[in-house]
Amino acid sequence: MDKRKVILDVDTGSDDAVAIISAVLSKNIEVLGIATVNGNRCVEYTTENTLRVVEMLGVSETVPVVRGCAYPLVATIKRKKPGIPRGHYYQHAEEYKTSGKSIHGDFLDMFPPSTIKEANLNAVSWYIKTLMAAEDESITLIPVGPLTNLAHVFQVEPRTVKKVKEIIYMGGGHLLGNTRPAAEYNVWVDPEAAQIVLESGVRNFIWVPLNATHAAYLTKSDAERIRSIGTKPAEVVAELIEQRIIGYSNYQKVEAPDAAPIHDALCIAAIHDPSVLTDIHHCYAEVDCGGSSCDGETIFDINPGSFEYDKKTPNSYVALGADREKFVNILVGILEGAK
Ligand code: RIB
Ligand code: CA
Repeated sequence: MDKRKVILDVDTGSDDAVAIISAVLSKNIEVLGIATVNGNRCVEYTTENTLRVVEMLGVSETVPVVRGCAYPLVATIKRKKPGIPRGHYYQHAEEYKTSGKSIHGDFLDMFPPSTIKEANLNAVSWYIKTLMAAEDESITLIPVGPLTNLAHVFQVEPRTVKKVKEIIYMGGGHLLGNTRPAAEYNVWVDPEAAQIVLESGVRNFIWVPLNATHAAYLTKSDAERIRSIGTKPAEVVAELIEQRIIGYSNYQKVEAPDAAPIHDALCIAAIHDPSVLTDIHHCYAEVDCGGSSCDGETIFDINPGSFEYDKKTPNSYVALGADREKFVNILVGILEGAK
């Protein structure tokens, strides 16, 4: 089987780290590069965290890390969204660092500071160069942070759009938010970018929203099973899952006890076995960019009761569920297979 050619776009982040590890170790995936972006933390931190993961995996020669956008397109103008970018001055940074309670933390502390370097080119230029050199519909994009980089890429060089086979995006929520009542974090940080990418004409935009990632929660016993694989990456993944379980129990309770979603890694699992995503709807989606309390809300028109005369052509797919047992088995399979 040909490996899927993939570009990751990350705001690393504990769940991004699990996504990177599983993508790089997967025998079905060739990671062409990893772009970083402002998101969970400022881009300086997310880049450093990405370099730490890539260094641990020993793939810095083949997988370039390219630094992306430091700010969302418009969300920080006039400090409309104070606290972004989340950097040194992030108001809770000290508490998060010292309490050990956080979901991400500033840095992935289980790794030493990186000694490898990011690529010289910025991510937007790198994307354009890489995509323009690719065959049509040959590249899978897996963004798992705000969509700022890709919005710039498609606006600067729209011919890149036809190089993309699909976008599998961790973002959004159907009537569900984790940052505002109606908004998921990645989309909330840069709603305009998400809408631009959605409108770019890209084929096969697949949303992996909170509804799916929360259904695919991992537990302490899943972490133990992963740790028992006995490799360094497996140990790291187990530790990250446990860190997230502590963070979620402190800040965002999930339905199951001692459990947490590992959002971003579900997108990687979907390449191995698309049936890990369930309840998929082909529908019209749009992002609220209105600046109200719904700013960053994703609207998926799956409501059979909405007015027929107002129905718009479907522009994407959204997965509203996931098979958590399959997800765990895929992760274990990838980590076992890399022994
Ligand atoms: O809302 C969850 C998403 O926000 C994940 O991608 C997490 O890493 C953060 O970026
Ligand atoms: Ca992320």
